[in-house]
Amino acid sequence: MIFAANFKTNHTRASTLAYLEQLEQKIANNKNDKFYLFPPSTAILSHNSNVTIGVQNAYPARNGAFTGEIGLEQLEEFGIKTILIGHSERRQLLKESDEDIAKKFTFFKEHDFEIIYCIGEPLEIREQGDNVVIDYLAGQFTGIDTNYKNLIIAYEPIWAIGTGKSATDLEIATTHKALKALCSKPLLYGGSVNTANIKDITSIPNVDGVLVGSASLDVNNFVSLINTAR
Ligand code: PGA
Repeated sequence: MIFAANFKTNHTRASTLAYLEQLEQKIANNKNDKFYLFPPSTAILSHNSNVTIGVQNAYPARNGAFTGEIGLEQLEEFGIKTILIGHSERRQLLKESDEDIAKKFTFFKEHDFEIIYCIGEPLEIREQGDNVVIDYLAGQFTGIDTNYKNLIIAYEPIWAIGTGKSATDLEIATTHKALKALCSKPLLYGGSVNTANIKDITSIPNVDGVLVGSASLDVNNFVSLINTAR
């Protein structure tokens, strides 16, 4: 299983370091799973352990006049080679268009990054049923090379993110099955994953792991989520 923690705009550099130290200690004997941590950009760090540090976002350029952004040069300083692209918070709050996202994907693919590409439907699409959901999600693959070797997909229904209301097991099962038919890459589920639902979610066929926001912020909680899944 893949366990990825997305800190979003939480934690500092100091608290990320303390978190990482504890996480590593507690998963030291776990050789079966894969772990990722996406701290805020101010907390990215050079790191060599079984926890891969990735960045939540970066601008598709080596460097240049892109106020407020970080590019390849800044990531290289820390040996960061993993990036989240297409998270719904960036699509919605930061107004990233499909075109922006495809451009970002292509740039980081050309630089051999491992990409966790996020897709997910809003509630009004989910309410129209499975076929409409799948068509919508398939649309989010436009301009994206789904055969890219370093690709992981994260299915995160927007209405389930940060709401405490995850998708049902049936919704996850149906959607993951259809997504696997479109793209055979590892497929994560994200959206209100917590210690109470992790066991059921990770038992669903075609779920290869989870992308966790709120329930990852406390290291003990994240570790108990990992241990409950096993
Ligand atoms: P959540 O966030 O676990 O707080 O719902 C998941 C995500 O946005 O990746």
